[in-house]
Amino acid sequence: MRLVLLGAPGSGKGTQATRLKEALGVPHISTGELLRAAVAAGTELGKQAKAVMERGELVSDDIVLGMLEERLGQADVGNGFILDGYPRNLAQANALDALLARLQQPVDVAVQLDVGTELLVQRLAGRAQQEGRADDNPESVRNRLRVYSDQTEPVIDFYRQKNRLICVYGVGSVDEVLARVLAAIEGASGKS
Ligand code: AP5
Repeated sequence: MRLVLLGAPGSGKGTQATRLKEALGVPHISTGELLRAAVAAGTELGKQAKAVMERGELVSDDIVLGMLEERLGQADVGNGFILDGYPRNLAQANALDALLARLQQPVDVAVQLDVGTELLVQRLAGRAQQEGRADDNPESVRNRLRVYSDQTEPVIDFYRQKNRLICVYGVGSVDEVLARVLAAIEGASGKS
């Protein structure tokens, strides 16, 4: 199963991906996590990405694609993957399409987690208090939401036009949302 998880900051992509990887038996690949690991390790790439991420803007397409290409080349992705945080604009969506076509492993399904803005802001404020993630401060959150609506929302239409999109209501307990996602994926595989 090759699955792309779409949704605004705080919609639960990372939370659901952690559970979906167990349910589907494929690795969770988060470009945000890969970038945070590079920042923490102080690599050249991490140094370039740090300030951009803290402002809530997008790291350059070339850097993220290179990092993703390397990750998709690893042995554990043979049976598929859950991609969280990529693609984030139409250029990335087209780049992913071309990369996966070359690998003969096209995306099976894109799941969009739908959560209203007020709840997104509440969740991220809660995480800011608990975990202190560098980009969960109010100004960066506003920026991340703006970037999402300007640059990432068009990606939803990209997958809709390819008949690959499923929209799942992302409000409720983590288990409730997980059950909806799994049911939607099962329904979609039944149709194809
Ligand atoms: P990234 O790490 O991808 O962050 P994000 O998209 O802003 O998403 P979040 O991690 O904030 O939210 P999420 O949807 O994963 O929700 P989560 O499960 O964590 O990217 C960070 C930055 O890296 C970007 O801004 C950019 O700079 C850079 N970057 C990454 N990818 C890039 C790319 N492709 N191109 C360029 N730059 C890129 O949940 C959020 C909170 O809500 C948690 O506290 C969680 O416990 C809680 N929660 C989750 N589900 C529920 C629920 N059902 N009920 C109650 N609480 C819940």
